[in-house]
Order: sequence, then structure tokens, then C-alpha cells
Amino acid sequence: MNAPHRSYRGKRALVTGGLGFLGGNLALRLNQLGASVTVVDSMVPGCGSDPGNLDSARGAIRLVHADIGDTHALGGILADTDVVFNLAGEISHLRSMTDPQRDLALNTVAQLQFLSELAARRPGIRVVYAGTRQVYGAPRYLPVDELHPVDPVDFNGVHKYTATMYHLLMAKTGVLDSVILRLTNIYGPRMSLTADGQGVLSFFLRRLLEGQDLEVFGTGEQVRDPLFVDDAVEAFLLAGEVESPPSRAYNAGGPEPLTLLEMAREMIRASGGSAKLTLRPFPDALKAIDIGSYLADNTRATTELGWKPTTSFEDGMRATFDYFRNAAAQRPMQPAPGQPLELLPHEPRRV
Ligand SMILES: NC(=O)c1ccc[n+]([C@@H]2O[C@H](COP(=O)([O-])OP(=O)(O)OC[C@H]3O[C@@H](n4cnc5c(N)ncnc54)[C@H](O)[C@@H]3O)[C@@H](O)[C@H]2O)c1
Repeated sequence: MNAPHRSYRGKRALVTGGLGFLGGNLALRLNQLGASVTVVDSMVPGCGSDPGNLDSARGAIRLVHADIGDTHALGGILADTDVVFNLAGEISHLRSMTDPQRDLALNTVAQLQFLSELAARRPGIRVVYAGTRQVYGAPRYLPVDELHPVDPVDFNGVHKYTATMYHLLMAKTGVLDSVILRLTNIYGPRMSLTADGQGVLSFFLRRLLEGQDLEVFGTGEQVRDPLFVDDAVEAFLLAGEVESPPSRAYNAGGPEPLTLLEMAREMIRASGGSAKLTLRPFPDALKAIDIGSYLADNTRATTELGWKPTTSFEDGMRATFDYFRNAAAQRPMQPAPGQPLELLPHEPRRV
């Protein structure tokens, strides 16, 4: 399904948050396509940054270790950029509830500084922002289209929506050419197995890689539409090159609806192991920010960007296990396998 994306050859692409899961995969793909890639990342503690994510393009991708709000460090770089993929951000919903100031600083203040400097240095430049389905809150209908009311259930959703509005306002006033992707749960190679906030899929993955059993909260009947990272990267590439986009915001969800239980079972199969699966009552702290079931309506992205997710959960999970088994052979997971994991109860709601 991948388009040739010839427009990126020779283009100067900036990827914020490019040491993280999504940004790392996108930066590598842009490099493969012949773009001249610069990554800006401040390696925020607790996020998914890992310099090893860019190992396969070592020397080919320029890395700037800076906060996106550091306009002094970035000014000259922004002036020399043709397209921006803006993925820097804090992803943990639960931590946003215990430390909203941190989430505010990373997801809004830094974003506003970055976008203002970008607009000053490169007025009218295309910037693709990694938004989130979390802005919709608990869906009032399924599948969720872009006209669904915005009603986030946590500070992360509020702040990500604020940053979305910065992008949209600056598009309206003509100073930036912004496109927003509202992404569902993404999984695949390079997802952090240790950062709070990468969600239940990352947590399950790690447990299975360590030969542990799985526990699912509640009934396990909540539906999600997990999206393989290569499909997400394809959405970014299309959004980065579409001319005169008819819309500014696009939902991007996976190809098939699956319950949590179905995902857990498929992951156990893909792991080739015999892990046991048990249901556990939902912890109170997580109920408040639970959104129930979610399914994206991708019609707009399909019609206007030509994007369609094609990787089944089965295939995507196989590729993910393959990647981590090879990666673990080369460099150990942090903390070392066998040590207790502290991801639960922090982040099981990004499922
Ligand atoms: N992974 C998902 O399922 C998912 C779903 C919806 C939306 N998103 C959005 O996609 C983006 C990337 O997510 P991810 O899963 O790759 O997360 P990640 O934690 O792996 O990567 C985020 C990166 O951003 C960097 N960063 C954060 N704030 C920064 C700042 N102010 N300046 C410079 N660098 C900064 C971090 O150091 C990290 O490397 C985030 O904005 C997230 O909200 C992700």
C-alpha cells in the first residue's frame, strides 16, 4: 500500500520527538525516502526516547538534543526546514492527572513557543501534528468521525487539544499550513516497553517477552482499533505531502475492531508462548479516565489523503515480537528482564 512518496527526496524534514517510538520510525522512513532528516528531542525522562531507535541510520540523521520550546537552539534549524512532523509530547494520560503542570509544559507551552518561532522563521510551512483520539473522550457513538464532540477525560487530552487548536488557529490565520492526525493506539517496533504511557499493548508485550502471564482489567470487552506503526507513518507521510488539504484534522485508526481480550489472546499466540490470561477488577484510579470503547472512522483520511491502514493485528504483532526478540538479543531491555515492572497501574487505559 505504501505510496512512493517521491516528493520527500532531497527535502529537509524536521521530526520533533524523533527519538521516541513514532518519531523514530518516521525519521527512519524519511531517511529511506531520501529526505535530509533532522530530529529534535530533549529526551524527556519518563517518555519513550531512545537514541538506539535511530541506530539503523546512524550518521545519516542529524540529532539536535533540545526542547522544542528552546527557540534560541532551534531558530536557525527551523529556517532551513521544508516540512515539519511535530511529534514531541508527553503521552501518559494517568501522569497528566497526577502532574498536570508537567503535561501543560510539554504539550502546550513548549508547543506554542515552537509554533510561534516556526511561523516567524518559515511562514506557511506544512506542519503535521501528532494529535490523539483522546480529545474525544468517551465516545458518544461509534465509529468516531471528526465531527464528534470534543470532551477529553484527562489533562493530557485537554492539553493535546489545546496544541491542536494552536495548529488550527495558525492555519486559519495563514501563518502555518497545519494538518492534524488524531491517532488511535499505536504499536510496533521501537515502542517503549518501559515508559509510562505507552499503554496496555506495550505492557502486555513486555510481560510476554519476559514469559509472564497477562491480566486484563474489567470485562475485557472494550473495543479498540490498534494501528501498526508503519501504517501510522504512512499517514504522516501522506499528510506531509498533500497539496491544499480539504480538511485540517484527520482520524487515523487501525483496520479492525478488537476487544481487549481478543488483543491479549492474539498477542499470546504471536508470542508463541502459553501465557495465562485472567480478568481483574478495574482499579478505581483508572475508572475516572476510562473512555470505554473506541473505533475511528477513517473515511476522511481515506478520501482526502488516500490513506488506509492495511496491517492486521496478527501480522503487526508478529513483526513486533520479531523486532523485540532481535533487539533484546542485541541490547537488554531497561530495566533488565526479570526485574519487577512498575507500569501497572499507571497506564493501562491507553488500550
Ligand atoms: N503512541 C501512541 O499510541 C500515540 C497515540 C496518539 C497520539 N500519540 C502522539 O504521538 C506523539 C509521539 O508518541 P510516542 O508514542 O512516539 O511517544 P514517545 O514518548 O515514544 O515519544 C515522544 C518523544 O517526544 C520527546 N519530547 C517530549 N516533549 C518534548 C519537548 N518539549 N521537546 C523535545 N522533545 C520532547 C520525548 O523525549 C520523546 O522522545 C506524541 O505527541 C503522542 O501524544 C501517540
